[in-house]
Amino acid sequence: MSSIKLRVVVALSGLALACAAQAQQTAAPKKAAAKVDRVAAEFEKFNKMMAEASPAELFEAKGEELWKAKRGPKNASLEKCDLGLGPGVVKGAYVKMPRYFADAGQMMDAERRIVYCMVTLQGFKEADLAKKPFSNGAYVPAPVALVTYVAAQSRGMKIAVPQKHAMEREAYKIGEEIFNYRAGPWDFSCASCHGEDGKRIRTQNLPNLSKKEGANRAFQGWPGYRMTGGLMHTLQWRMNDCFRQQRFPEPGYASETIADLLTYMGVNANGNRYSGPGIKR
Ligand code: HEC
Repeated sequence: MSSIKLRVVVALSGLALACAAQAQQTAAPKKAAAKVDRVAAEFEKFNKMMAEASPAELFEAKGEELWKAKRGPKNASLEKCDLGLGPGVVKGAYVKMPRYFADAGQMMDAERRIVYCMVTLQGFKEADLAKKPFSNGAYVPAPVALVTYVAAQSRGMKIAVPQKHAMEREAYKIGEEIFNYRAGPWDFSCASCHGEDGKRIRTQNLPNLSKKEGANRAFQGWPGYRMTGGLMHTLQWRMNDCFRQQRFPEPGYASETIADLLTYMGVNANGNRYSGPGIKR
């Protein structure tokens, strides 16, 4: 993508490259770049400090409570939910999703699977769950807390998103295609922002999700407590927000498209240890 186009997007979308830094960069590119690097380094430090006292734990506890509580029209808990390792097995399940679930005949990421269990075991309606799926103010949707709980039970484990089943391999390919698919008013794809090393908007590094290191960075810390806004979010939200940044139509909540994209990203991150739910700027 040309830098002009990036600038247009950045300005219009309100993400904004710092105007001052931009002006400086034109005058003295090296100096400005060094300055941005220092700012980024400060943010890294701050992130580490915050992660040590992560508010994500509160949501983890809430999620555990919800997992075990009898809820919904069927007054059932989620303790029989099969996250891919057998009914009720939560430990290690998060780092092995998305995966193909034969009972549903679909690829499912953690959130999609949890929604599936809420519908099949507890009798909730998918359309209702899709109405307000993201944290907003004091409101925390049940799936957000549940995903946080489930993810926390994979802390320290190796990311191992499976590619055994033909559907899993297909999902990776489709995910890759979606990632590189350019469209919309600015002819952008995910790759426009996340397909090269060293891209950034203001002080935010945009990880290169097509490579192991960048994909790993994006896998880590989600679900995450976002300092911007002070809300707990899952990757489902992150995907949604990036579709918005890309000026694409909003994707369906817990949809196949998102499962495919997360398969692409997850497989690219395979082999790294998952540090657990955390904090994101
Ligand atoms: C216009 C630029 C832009 C486009 C296009 C875009 N994103 Fe993003 N993306 C961002 C920004 C900005 C962030 C936030 C970075 C931060 O806060 O550090 C981000 C963050 C992310 C993250 C989290 C990274 C992390 O470190 O946790 C993921 C994953 C992601 N995007 C995936 C996607 C996918 C998949 C697409 C295509 C559907 C996409 N993005 C399209 C700008 C973009």
